[in-house]
Amino acid sequence: MILPIVQYGHPVLRERCKPVEEVTEEIRTLAADMLETMYDANGVGLAAPQIGVALRLAVIDVAHDPECISFLKVNGEDAALESIMPLIFINPELELVGEKERDTEGCLSIRDMRAEVTRPNAVKATLPQFDGSVLVIETDGLLARALQHETDHLNGVLFIDRLSPATKLSIKRKLRRLAAEG
Ligand code: NI
Repeated sequence: MILPIVQYGHPVLRERCKPVEEVTEEIRTLAADMLETMYDANGVGLAAPQIGVALRLAVIDVAHDPECISFLKVNGEDAALESIMPLIFINPELELVGEKERDTEGCLSIRDMRAEVTRPNAVKATLPQFDGSVLVIETDGLLARALQHETDHLNGVLFIDRLSPATKLSIKRKLRRLAAEG
């Protein structure tokens, strides 16, 4: 089921989300709906607060572009990108590694806005799965960026919080209008 995506200005986007303690049928359905919603909106990631649920749950799929990363290790072994896509995870833990890199980001909760965000270009992500297993993913590129962007959502942080002061200033008026529209 395609769910409405919460837009900038809604307080749920600023919540520190609660850990998923138990994977219920409701959580599984929610994750499936989040994937469907993300694909429908042509996004590469979606976090639960974006559909109004303040839980540490997110989905990512960057399989459309195999060139978007330069390496991928899953639990210490080299792996193919499509082998872990789509990625569904709860209660993520991120270790940020690598050089800082600027790249363009957008967000399904902030309509019509893209901007350059500087982030570390690689991560080691510990991603608990629904079946109780844990994926430890080391990667870079778009996947590292998406993991950081979605984990930020679970902490009430949006990509616009990470812009340079000059960029922030330049989009201030547009953000105010978006917030007013809800
Ligand atoms: Ni987002």
